[in-house]
Amino acid sequence: MSTTGREVLLGVGGGIAAYKACELVRRLQDDGFLVTVVPTPAALNFVGTATWEALSGRPVLSQVWQDVPGVAHIRLAELADYIVIAPATADLIARLAAGRADDLLTNVVLASGVAKLLVPAMHPQMWSSLATQANIETLHERGFVVMEPDEGRLTGADTGVGRFPEVPRILENLRAIVGISADLRGRRILITAGGTREPIDPVRFIGNRSSGKQGFALAQAALSRGAKVHLIAANCPDLTLEGCVITRVETTAELSLALDAEFENCDVLIMSAAVADARPSQIEDEKLKSSQLRTIELVPNPDLLKVLSDKRRPGQVLIGFAAETVNHLESAISKMERKNLDLLYVNDVSGGAIFGSDRTQGAILLKSGDQITVTDASKDTLAHVLLDQLK
Ligand code: CTP
Repeated sequence: MSTTGREVLLGVGGGIAAYKACELVRRLQDDGFLVTVVPTPAALNFVGTATWEALSGRPVLSQVWQDVPGVAHIRLAELADYIVIAPATADLIARLAAGRADDLLTNVVLASGVAKLLVPAMHPQMWSSLATQANIETLHERGFVVMEPDEGRLTGADTGVGRFPEVPRILENLRAIVGISADLRGRRILITAGGTREPIDPVRFIGNRSSGKQGFALAQAALSRGAKVHLIAANCPDLTLEGCVITRVETTAELSLALDAEFENCDVLIMSAAVADARPSQIEDEKLKSSQLRTIELVPNPDLLKVLSDKRRPGQVLIGFAAETVNHLESAISKMERKNLDLLYVNDVSGGAIFGSDRTQGAILLKSGDQITVTDASKDTLAHVLLDQLK
């Protein structure tokens, strides 16, 4: 999968705040970054390799003497789009300022020319010491973005400037470096999530297994990038998203009405909802007895995306989703043409994968004919990679 611009190498120094960097890994992933963690050997005294590997879903090394044939320091330096060092301890800062290369992290930093964000955390005396401040100045002059630690209670009873900054502040700094904070500002994005249900009787319905997770991840990602988002949620969990208008629907007819009301006002439509292809020709007023349940006569639902695509105005972007179990690329390509879409993400759901999961795999098909293979990504990451295509 093309992850250009989304690879963060998180260097972790040997301070107690290393445990707070665990939360940072998660929040970076929520923001659509793929994270590789490189702890210093000292950091492993606080948080072990297994934790970093479990959180990042990637192998974790800390010495150049591991994976020697893989030349990890160069491989990781080439992979990283950004380097975040959190927490940066006094010793790590000193080693970086001196240009030392005595562990994997310092090797990678030397071998990489990408933007680097330094998040210092240490005792206030160590932070204000002339040595540390001189080292910080050196790194600053060399282009490192250096955050000021927070002020407050430290590990012991004392207080001062030296605390690990709050994670949202770190993300804000990284977003400023990356320049993704508002790249969708002014875009009106209409997103459908979940799956429609067609009632059979007062207690039964025809539905599908779509959880709505991907649609919510898309809405969250678009909001974080400054877009104005309207989410139409079909049978999704009762979640709210700050700054997002949410319309809740159950049936395909209700989804169709909601789309008709909003389509004209959007610049981009992302149809991640799974639409029930057919509905019972009649809805029973009373619950059917099990003995009456033999056959249900169905009538097809309209293809909502096709109808909207046929009446789109110039410049409106339409994105579809598909879930396939066999020949997924072939049928996705013909679906994309039939519905005249700008982009289609095809989930490979063979073996019941993906529904309800936080992860996804499949392929992004672009109008140009290009494809981006998604091997195993979080739905947040996929959301950002899809939104990257709107730029
Ligand atoms: N879609 C739609 N209206 C329908 C069915 C699908 O708008 N009645 C949209 C979905 O939201 C999705 C895309 O079309 O974005 C592809 O959905 P899919 O169910 O894979 O397409 P179908 O045309 O129903 O194809 P299939 O025969 O494979 O089910």
